[in-house]
Amino acid sequence: MSKNKNNQPIWSARINKVSSNLFKKVGGSLSIDKRLFSEDIEASIIHVEMLFKQKIINFKIKNKIVWGLNRIKNEIIKKKFPFDEKLEDIHMNIEKRLFDLIGEEAGYIHTARSRNDQVITDFKIWLKKANNIITKNLDITINNILKNANKNIETIMPGFTHLKNAQPVSFAHYLLAYVEMFSRDKKRFINNLENINENPLGVAALTGTSFKIDRFYTTKKLKFKKPTKNSIDTVSDRDFVIDFLYSCSACAIHISRIAEEFIIWNSDAFKLINLNDKIVTGSSIMPQKKNPDPLEYLRGKTGVIFGNLFSMLTILKGLPLSYFKDLQDDKEIVFKSFDQLKNSLIILNDILKNFSVDKKRMLELAENGFLTATDLADYMVKELNYPFRKAYLQTAKIINFAEKNKKKLTELKIDEINKIEPKLTAEVLKIFDLKHSINSKTSYGGTSFENIKKMIRSYKKNH
Ligand code: ARG
Repeated sequence: MSKNKNNQPIWSARINKVSSNLFKKVGGSLSIDKRLFSEDIEASIIHVEMLFKQKIINFKIKNKIVWGLNRIKNEIIKKKFPFDEKLEDIHMNIEKRLFDLIGEEAGYIHTARSRNDQVITDFKIWLKKANNIITKNLDITINNILKNANKNIETIMPGFTHLKNAQPVSFAHYLLAYVEMFSRDKKRFINNLENINENPLGVAALTGTSFKIDRFYTTKKLKFKKPTKNSIDTVSDRDFVIDFLYSCSACAIHISRIAEEFIIWNSDAFKLINLNDKIVTGSSIMPQKKNPDPLEYLRGKTGVIFGNLFSMLTILKGLPLSYFKDLQDDKEIVFKSFDQLKNSLIILNDILKNFSVDKKRMLELAENGFLTATDLADYMVKELNYPFRKAYLQTAKIINFAEKNKKKLTELKIDEINKIEPKLTAEVLKIFDLKHSINSKTSYGGTSFENIKKMIRSYKKNH
């Protein structure tokens, strides 16, 4: 490997002009993929152990390579590794250093392997861990939401459609909607593991190899579930990357939705919740301001996470098989989405621990806007045997009367109601009670306090 002494690329024996200066600078990926160093070393060790088991390399060489790789790992951890941008990526940097440490025999490491399968192997090992980290953070989020829900089972607020008061709802029920969303996100990340768990190592450049390798051995040792089935597809496939980026995007949507709700509820017009000083920032000119910047940050960063998904989709569109340099960008994109989503979840968790609910104000808002109108229509269907449409019409007339006379439904007298609907008795008045309304929603998945208590118990057990 004398050519390599001056840090020349491996291919300098064949390509005798150096790449254009700018390309040399921007075409490499070391600054990005050095993050894969421990996965690269882990996979290389298993690769050479397999080569030895298959009698492709001897015991002494295998041991030398493993020794060198472990030493390199230590050097990188201790920040003593001589990274060289000119060597393009982490894989070539590690290989070059192995030559420095053990000499010519380092060259056996790349037997029956290409960077094309090497890089995806590293990436998939990394992604397994990344999925795990995200699902753990999602667990924390779900727990924080459950804690808030538990404290607010009997907190009554208006449920909205079109951001107009719709029907009374428990604040806990509202929060549990987000438990559902984040649980689906978790499931999505876990489901992604099925494709990630197919081992690419051993497909080499694109057609497989004539060496008698054992891909089932590396699969087991690297804790994959099975080897990939088609060598060309393997080096070209980045579906597992899109899955991850989409999962990040869906999760970011949910984060942005709860962020937006909190922004609205915290606004001076709504005042349903209060953010404590840990999660607000001030204004440089208006001394009175306490702005919900962290929530806006969460909402904004969703755009960045979507952008990453679109970058990858666009890179893959129309790309012929098999490996192309275009694919190198997959790692930067994924690392960015992972870092961003992880940060967003941590910030969201901070927010979930640092806000308070204005229960009085929530109730006040729920008392306005005729939220029990549907309950009244339902009551007429049940008690007077009216078709729902007739009950709806009679209710609308009663609402019109209340609105015209500036009365809440709870302020109506039975005589006033009877002018519009003579068949109703004073018993109807209980229908306008918000708590009564909520507790009548006993259908599975509905907002009654009892349902919510059961749901919280089951979430605590099962998420
Ligand atoms: N740094 C490259 C990447 O991440 C490694 C694969 C290189 N393969 C090749 N045939 N040039 O995609």
